[in-house]
Amino acid sequence: MQVWTAVVVSLCVTWRLVGAEDFPSLITANGSIAVVLDRQFLGEQYQLVLDQVKDWVRELARVELKHGGVVVHYYSWTTISLKKGFIAVFSIASCQDTWTLFSRTEEEELLLFALTEADCPRLPSDAAITVSYMEPGHELPQILLDLRTTKAFHWKSAVILHDDTLNRDMVSRVVQSLTSQIDDEDVPAISVTVFKMKHEINEYLRRKEMHRVLSKLPTRYIGNNFVAIVTSDVMSTMAETVRDLGMSHTQAQWLYIVSDTNTHTGNLTSLINALHEGENLAYMYNITDDHPDCKNGLICYCQEVLKAFVSALDAAVQEELEVAGQVSDEEWEAIKPSKLQRRNMLLKHMQQHISVNSRCGNCSSWRALAADTWGATYRAFTEDTATPGRKKDAENDTTSGVIEQIELLQVGTWRPVDGVRYHDALFPHVEHGFRGKPLPIITYHNPPWTFLHTNESGTIVSYSGLIFDIIDQLSKIKNFTAKILLPGNVKHDFSNDTVDSMQSESALATLSAVARGQAALAAAAFTILSDPMPGINYTVPVSTQPYCFMIARPRELSRALLFMLPFTTDTWLCLGFAVILMGPTLYIIHRLSPYYEAMGVTPQGGLSTIHNCLWYIYGALLQQGMVACTSPRADSGRLVVGTWWLVVLVVVTTYSGNLVAFLTFPKQEQPVTTVAELVGRGDLYVEH
Ligand SMILES: *[C@@H]1O[C@H](CO)[C@@H](O)[C@H](O)[C@H]1NC(C)=O
Ligand SMILES: *[C@@H]1O[C@H](CO)[C@@H](O)[C@H](O)[C@H]1NC(C)=O
Ligand SMILES: *[C@@H]1O[C@H](CO)[C@@H](O)[C@H](O)[C@H]1NC(C)=O
Ligand SMILES: *[C@@H]1O[C@H](CO)[C@@H](O)[C@H](O)[C@H]1NC(C)=O
Ligand SMILES: *[C@@H]1O[C@H](CO)[C@@H](O)[C@H](O)[C@H]1NC(C)=O
Ligand SMILES: *[C@@H]1O[C@H](CO)[C@@H](O)[C@H](O)[C@H]1NC(C)=O
Ligand SMILES: *[C@@H]1O[C@H](CO)[C@@H](O)[C@H](O)[C@H]1NC(C)=O
Ligand SMILES: *[C@@H]1O[C@H](CO)[C@@H](O)[C@H](O)[C@H]1NC(C)=O
Ligand SMILES: *[C@@H]1O[C@H](CO)[C@@H](O)[C@H](O)[C@H]1NC(C)=O
Repeated sequence: MQVWTAVVVSLCVTWRLVGAEDFPSLITANGSIAVVLDRQFLGEQYQLVLDQVKDWVRELARVELKHGGVVVHYYSWTTISLKKGFIAVFSIASCQDTWTLFSRTEEEELLLFALTEADCPRLPSDAAITVSYMEPGHELPQILLDLRTTKAFHWKSAVILHDDTLNRDMVSRVVQSLTSQIDDEDVPAISVTVFKMKHEINEYLRRKEMHRVLSKLPTRYIGNNFVAIVTSDVMSTMAETVRDLGMSHTQAQWLYIVSDTNTHTGNLTSLINALHEGENLAYMYNITDDHPDCKNGLICYCQEVLKAFVSALDAAVQEELEVAGQVSDEEWEAIKPSKLQRRNMLLKHMQQHISVNSRCGNCSSWRALAADTWGATYRAFTEDTATPGRKKDAENDTTSGVIEQIELLQVGTWRPVDGVRYHDALFPHVEHGFRGKPLPIITYHNPPWTFLHTNESGTIVSYSGLIFDIIDQLSKIKNFTAKILLPGNVKHDFSNDTVDSMQSESALATLSAVARGQAALAAAAFTILSDPMPGINYTVPVSTQPYCFMIARPRELSRALLFMLPFTTDTWLCLGFAVILMGPTLYIIHRLSPYYEAMGVTPQGGLSTIHNCLWYIYGALLQQGMVACTSPRADSGRLVVGTWWLVVLVVVTTYSGNLVAFLTFPKQEQPVTTVAELVGRGDLYVEH
């Protein structure tokens, strides 16, 4: 029992000691920092860098650090112990070592600011600072990697198109930067297809070569995301060819990377000649400056980040001193910043310092542009301030879909120190649809599809109806606002003001406004006809409506003459004829029979008169015998009579059966079920 207690007590003591030592306040102890300069990574430069860093830190501590001090520990390898109460780690190491070190500083909640080689994914910007050092002119793979890790595009596959300007080594680095596996699972590897084009100086040959390569791309399998790494003159040819081949549409994303520009060649705007509605285009172009004042080099970066750190540390110490001065010691113990809070504060301060003051590699920077194409065609129609002249111009332009006023958004800049800094999404329309633009939507009152509500003075104040519900949903998904136009606003020549003709006129005006590109959408219901108006192709129907007839409940037919109903008139007539025919037939056969002569019987009375025969046949039908005569005695006569009896049997049985059925189920009027029947029975229905 005592042993246990001793163990527990000693554990508590150790924990308390570590806890206290682990993170001293910046007031009570000077902050300490680990500087890791990997000897293997730096090679021959190691000693030089170490000396320079030591001098610089001493200088900084003397000049810049106005409060407290800083204790610096130097290491020449990355696998150091981090349990010594550091507040930050500065490292110059290879990509892999930097990431390993980061996973350990992350455990200890320490700030890591790292200088590393090119083509290295940057550490998460909310926990560390990464500076990629590269020789000028080799930044392309890093740019693509930075775009990818900052999720500028969400691609599963990409097609890289390049010409001879990109050498083999660079191509493989570019591919590597897109396909490499990254620890962050939000950044999946992109499958890449690479196509090379011959660099032709001649414009005609270049166009032909481009057409050859582009027209054969199996976009169904390799996707519609393109990265074109080309020179600026090839870019404009390519943009035109792509448009001709119909490969630049809303589903496709084109990123042009133009490396042969610089600050002096001006901005790219002049090189982008035409933009079309619905395209997704982004440009990344070189604005490298070759001014002699441009600073670069490993030492420069070292000095800059260390300066940023010292500045951040100074600010942190000052803030803690200020707060501690206002409260008692006990209170300070309670409210002093935690390790994580301090790290975040230092990080934020350093990032801000770097973004404002950094000069190293500032010259090799790139700029990102995005074309704001979606909905731009309709700008002239939604701007109330547009002058009539401009409106007319726009009307002419829209028929071809070309946007005269090129609108390019500055979406970001890139430099080696802090990667891409975005002002907007690289593909603004993929991220934000129409970016809240107003789109002209033409409509007219046509209940129940569209309702226009007016207030007392006749001004239209609101809109509703099924079609507007659909438009609302669309505008939410595609991020636009609806600006309602009425056909009257588009076309004023209504000669006919009756409601009926207004409706069909409105439908026509609506259609022509959409066809002329004056409205983005028409909010109107059209019926699907088998022969549509020219210029209309139907989509899937929004609503399917079955039409029905409403007719009076079928009446019960009268029971008068019910006994006639089992047989149709034809049957009754046939029956009558049969009776009339059978009489003479029986008479003739009876008279011609030689039987009576041979037997010496003189036929008298009975069937020997035609009159009796008729009555006999009729009596047989009603199942009556005949009093006045006997049945024939000759076989021929008997055969005729027997046959008749059989006929009678069938007829009577059928008649009785049907009669019972008619008595049980009274006959109803026939209801109308088709249009043809309705027309056929016009006598009954149409007159009313
Ligand atoms: C902190 O550093 C300063 C200057 O380097 C030194 O004067 C001071 O004694 C140090 N304080 C502590 C607590 O070590
Ligand atoms: C960017 O432009 C500069 C100056 O024109 C050039 O030296 C550098 O090689 C270009 N960068 C790339 C990646 O081509
Ligand atoms: C680019 O050039 C156009 C005219 O060619 C100009 O209007 C625009 O302001 C320039 N943009 C930048 C960022 O210099
Ligand atoms: C560095 O370049 C960026 C953009 O390229 C610019 O905004 C910033 O002012 C520059 N910094 C300095 C210190 O020149
Ligand atoms: C619009 O185009 C038509 C036919 O191409 C042309 O006659 C007319 O002058 C153009 N209007 C304007 C304002 O450009
Ligand atoms: C709509 O566009 C605006 C402007 O670009 C953007 O701020 C907003 O986030 C977008 N909304 C959606 C839902 O994408
Ligand atoms: C109808 O709406 C218009 C526009 O909103 C407004 O100017 C007008 O005063 C309204 N009339 C009445 C009677 O509310
Ligand atoms: C209105 O339209 C109808 C049918 O299109 C036509 O017969 C009638 O003459 C028109 N009325 C006027 C005033 O134009
Ligand atoms: C519209 O329909 C016509 C004829 O049915 C067809 O030739 C044309 O390709 C269709 N257009 C579209 C965009 O589907």
